[in-house]
Amino acid sequence: MQEQGFILWFTGYSGAGKSTLANAIAPKLRALGKRTEILDGDEVRENLSKGLGFSKEDRDTNIRRIGFVANLLARNGVVSVTAAISPYRQIRDEIRSKSQAPFIEIFVDTPLELAESRDPKGLYKKARAGQIQHFTGVSDPYEPPQKPEITVRTADEGIDACVTRILAYLRSRGLTG
Ligand code: ADX
Repeated sequence: MQEQGFILWFTGYSGAGKSTLANAIAPKLRALGKRTEILDGDEVRENLSKGLGFSKEDRDTNIRRIGFVANLLARNGVVSVTAAISPYRQIRDEIRSKSQAPFIEIFVDTPLELAESRDPKGLYKKARAGQIQHFTGVSDPYEPPQKPEITVRTADEGIDACVTRILAYLRSRGLTG
């Protein structure tokens, strides 16, 4: 029997915790016997999307590429875990509607102030100083999901608690056996 693949689509600000969550949940999924791949925003931009910037058009292209690859993997029984800001609702919904496997949107609902205070790459500081244009949350929009399957609040819950909750949801949907 073909294994059940699906897409776990994390969305949220830079510094919200998307990559941390993706890297924390992937080994748990593997331990459950799921073949799992992470498509991380920064890594995709280094490889699949090299040369793209942060205009709406370029972000849409980046997100469509991630969605395309995530779908190829998921329809072949792999769990695709994506971690890109993916700020535009319409493109996320487009990917959801095209997905040939379950699409699970996880809103990493970290307040901008907290993401900005973490500033792991020092980019918010540069954006506030006007050295980076179109920075999500500072000078570019972020459109939160209206009906995400799961919302996690890294301000209130630890990473482990968020991961446990996501795994419980997947189990309740029968996706992890
Ligand atoms: S997305 O909008 O196309 O989904 P993606 O997740 O791939 O974005 O890349 C975001 C990462 O690129 C951020 O975490 C940050 O490190 C970096 N970055 C550089 N410039 C910007 C910008 N203008 N807006 C947001 N992130 C930026």
